[in-house]
Amino acid sequence: MTNDCPESRAFGIGVKADLETQYIRVDAAADTQELERVLAPAAAILASGGLVAFPTETVYGLGADALCPTAVRKIYAAKGRPSDNPMIVHVATVEDMQALAAEWPDVATKLAKRFMPGPLTLILKKTNLLSAVVSGGLDTIGLRIPENAVARALIRLAGVPVAAPSANRSGRPSPTEARHVMTDLGGRIDCVVDGGSTTLGLESTVLDLTTAKGPRILRPGAVTFEDLLEFLTETGMVMDQAARDWLGAVTTTTSEEAAELDTPKSPGMKYRHYAPQADVYLLEGNLQGAWKHLQRELGTVKIGLFASEELYRCLEPDETVAVHIFGSRDQADLAAHDLFSAFRNFDDMNCAVIVAERLSETKVGRAYMNRLFKAATYLVGEDQLIDLRKERDL
Ligand code: TXA
Ligand code: MG
Repeated sequence: MTNDCPESRAFGIGVKADLETQYIRVDAAADTQELERVLAPAAAILASGGLVAFPTETVYGLGADALCPTAVRKIYAAKGRPSDNPMIVHVATVEDMQALAAEWPDVATKLAKRFMPGPLTLILKKTNLLSAVVSGGLDTIGLRIPENAVARALIRLAGVPVAAPSANRSGRPSPTEARHVMTDLGGRIDCVVDGGSTTLGLESTVLDLTTAKGPRILRPGAVTFEDLLEFLTETGMVMDQAARDWLGAVTTTTSEEAAELDTPKSPGMKYRHYAPQADVYLLEGNLQGAWKHLQRELGTVKIGLFASEELYRCLEPDETVAVHIFGSRDQADLAAHDLFSAFRNFDDMNCAVIVAERLSETKVGRAYMNRLFKAATYLVGEDQLIDLRKERDL
């Protein structure tokens, strides 16, 4: 095995579960000078091959020097992540993105101008500067410029591109607060930068620019299908029905999604994701009927209900049910913001079951439904209970 990063040899590849994880608190509103002062130790750890978790506007990322295969391997080990699941590389400028892409289509320049920094990851052909370890063996790479000021200051200071998947143990909900990272990875990584709660709560939109058929969303996020369709149309790209279908092909139906996408295209798709310890039940159809059916089915178990105000009023749950109301049914952005942290809170309350509802799959609702569906174990209707685990390749 080659190691072209001498500094990091000293750290070794394996995970010492007894690492002392340095905890750095930072005020995201601080001026640049103050940010740089507080972040200097974290940047030094990154630059010398260590692992640092940091906030972005989407979720917390677990960062390592993307140019150093040894450092990147430590991410897979710390997360318990399959090594064919590629990582997103985070940079601070469009020029740095261009330097890591072997091909830079015109549309990338336009998308960068409109959506970056921000929650949009572009999949592009990668240069040999990045090893296959970062891309999970693919010849493409996901690149993004986070909007979060702490993230960008850290990347600039470290002076290297930062490979960073979400900072959770593999299969767990992505962390939206530093304490979630500590729960999953405390003692397994060198440092956590606490910059408060993330503003969006779900991971970035992943947009593939490497196919002959045109741009394609591999993972929906806060830069929505509607945003991209409108923008691409404005740029003069022909967005006929075939191009629209191609752009927005990712839906919540995970079994179809997996069948439709060739596995190497988006390896992350084939693993069960975002799951709390509790089983997640998704209510369908007549919601009151589905809720009654579920209660009969479950008997007396502790239930966590993740609901809109409308659903809460409709179900009138008794006081044994732990309830998280995110807002109204048409506020998918609030549902997206709260979903992963609510999953973790329900787990902390020892809920055996989490119940959630479908929202309209428009705008951010698409991203919410995509994550919820991947986390769900059962679909429950008035007179049906479908085990989704059988449908999915775990
Ligand atoms: O918001 C985010 O994107 C967060 C923050 C930390 O930036 N990161 C994140 O990374 O969610 P991760 O590794 O948890 O998810 C990356 C997703 C996976 O589904 C992966 O399969 C896909 O992007 N991906 C990465 N590189 C890819 C590539 N070259 N081709 C296809 N899919 C890729
Ligand atoms: Mg992830």
